[in-house]
Amino acid sequence: MEIDIFTLFPEWFEWFERQRHVRNAIAAGSRLGYVSFRDHTPLSAGQVDDTPFGGGAGMLLRVDVVESALRARYGMDPVRLREHRRVVALTPAGRLLDDALVDELAAEPHLTLLCGRYEGFDERILEHFASDEVSIGRYVLAGGEVAAMVVCDAVLRKLPGALGDASSSAEESFSAALGGHPEYPHYTRPAEHRGWRVPEVLLSGHHERIGQWRRERSRERARRRPAPGQD
Ligand code: ADE
Repeated sequence: MEIDIFTLFPEWFEWFERQRHVRNAIAAGSRLGYVSFRDHTPLSAGQVDDTPFGGGAGMLLRVDVVESALRARYGMDPVRLREHRRVVALTPAGRLLDDALVDELAAEPHLTLLCGRYEGFDERILEHFASDEVSIGRYVLAGGEVAAMVVCDAVLRKLPGALGDASSSAEESFSAALGGHPEYPHYTRPAEHRGWRVPEVLLSGHHERIGQWRRERSRERARRRPAPGQD
């Protein structure tokens, strides 16, 4: 998996790349690349944003700046780029990121992530260059960088070799193995702390009963915290 991140703050991702599962994914052949909008602006004084026509607060990332950065990286008209790879703009109003979308993105050989700043993107960027708009939740962040890290984190940990134990991503919250339900509760040593005992069945060594107990707890959690659209 190769992911290119277009951002005004490539250095923010240095911390992200130091994290264990990200390092594992890179060692296993994935690649994260960064393009700084500021390095490719056709405007003088490194300008990348501008005020909205019609008035209003904040600044918008300019369409000519994004075009120039995409052209420099891919050597083609960015209007055609989305025929070749998914170009994901991070926006608060985009498709909500969930496990199904993470699976979909993890199956792609290449991804391009566009991080907006300030008030966001000139609409023409979304209309003509992006194939997808993805949101990590219905709230507004100062920019798309943290959202891009969330997408990369969720996608990379799905790839073979990213997690120490491959089974840890197969049967986790919202996975097909759990019927899309949240994960069951986990416990580790000590078996008792301040009188709070680990459920007996987990200490029993009886795999069938443990499996049944876990599936029941997972369904119970799904009833208590329904996924959006299921309540
Ligand atoms: N950019 C600003 N807010 C965002 C959000 N909630 N999700 C994705 N990108 C964003």
